[in-house]
Amino acid sequence: MHIIRPTRRQFLAASASAAALSVGGILPVSAALAGGPILLEARPGTANLLETSDADTPIWGYDGRVPGPVLRARQGGEIWVRFRNGLSQPTTIHWHGIRIANAMDGVAGLTQDPVPPGETFDYRFTVPDAGTFWYHPHNRSWEQVARGLYGALIVEERDAPDVDQDLIVIADDWRLEEDGKIHEASFGSIRDRAHAGRLGNILAINGKPLAEFKVRSGERLRLRLINTCNARVLTLRFEGLKPQVLAIDGQPVPPRPLKNEMATLGPGQRVDLFIRMTGAPGATQAITEVSQSRLVAARFVYGPEEPLPGKAGAPTLASNGLPEPDMASAKEVDLVMTGGAMGQVDQIVYKGESLGIRELVRKHGLVWAFNGVAGRPETPLFTARKGQTVAVRMVNDTRWPHAMHFHGHHFREAHSDAPWRDTLLMEASETRTVYFVADNPGKWMLHCHMLEHQAGGMATWFEVEA
Ligand code: C2O
Ligand code: CU
Repeated sequence: MHIIRPTRRQFLAASASAAALSVGGILPVSAALAGGPILLEARPGTANLLETSDADTPIWGYDGRVPGPVLRARQGGEIWVRFRNGLSQPTTIHWHGIRIANAMDGVAGLTQDPVPPGETFDYRFTVPDAGTFWYHPHNRSWEQVARGLYGALIVEERDAPDVDQDLIVIADDWRLEEDGKIHEASFGSIRDRAHAGRLGNILAINGKPLAEFKVRSGERLRLRLINTCNARVLTLRFEGLKPQVLAIDGQPVPPRPLKNEMATLGPGQRVDLFIRMTGAPGATQAITEVSQSRLVAARFVYGPEEPLPGKAGAPTLASNGLPEPDMASAKEVDLVMTGGAMGQVDQIVYKGESLGIRELVRKHGLVWAFNGVAGRPETPLFTARKGQTVAVRMVNDTRWPHAMHFHGHHFREAHSDAPWRDTLLMEASETRTVYFVADNPGKWMLHCHMLEHQAGGMATWFEVEA
């Protein structure tokens, strides 16, 4: 099929001249010391995010790269990371979507003190669920994630599904200046906080302006899509292919066709796809991002080999066996989201003080609230007994979408084919109720994963008793 050159100029405010394509999309995997921890350091580095080779972007990355190394473990196995902070500001690592022991959840100020520059911290935990997860800082994440601190965490099934290639596709948008530097002046921008968050002008897949995945005709792929954007809701389209969804936010679903060949992912969300590569030898096929304009984000490049003979369809992944909520006996909790640009809200409480929204913005840089309270409060939104089912009715009383993320647990909605999720994308004015069994003791964040919204007040927490 015909490939259109990336219409990057529609995305990029200032155009960079077209140059050599960067090739290769495969991410390096971390290596563990024999029997010991994986060494992982957050530190400055560079990335080539523009198509011009003379405009490297100074980034912060795990091991100085973006994305960071892929961390892999077997289901039920252990991840042991000896983390060193080589940055100029304190940081932590949060293991997004892992039903983790609370002390390892990496939330600065809630589950641990942030790791100061130059210091180390050991993260060591069991991974109960097979699937696609990721890791990122949970301290000033609106800045640290935007600078490139994230990587994939893959938990392998006990029985490996039958596919020919297993590929990770990490999508991130970057807000860059013409010379390739990160646009720093807009970090903490109130405008971003009150609107859609920090949206980039460049889309990179696996840290590349136009990633290429080498495939063979007839091959069967597992594609692990991860949206690490600060705030952008991505819609990735697989033109000319017929993907099937295998898992959502790391949790398997019965294989089902991807509607309109398009996968929509809010920030933090993941989708695992199965794709049979039906293009001819020598062909190319595009992955396009179509949420705003049409942008070629990555390409499949077919080798010259004869097509592989026909084989079985999509594998069914074994369920991770999450506990079923007991909806009839659920503890009911309301969470009303207010604030933001064009919102209808008078007073918001911050640290015990009730303020008008203008004052709240001026004094504290906050613009959003959960149940009338901005920022992570001293007291939890709710406390649950261990094993209790909780129903959280979330009311989006704002003019903006939000990506609501719960730590330490997956949840689902009531309808019978609702997937398990850890991050739920809610449209403006929507009300959705999610259910989960609060079986993981500790203090858990609940926040919008649009990182400027989180920083602007959309954060709370809940407690599960031991
Ligand atoms: Cu992926 Cu609280 O974050
Ligand atoms: Cu939000």
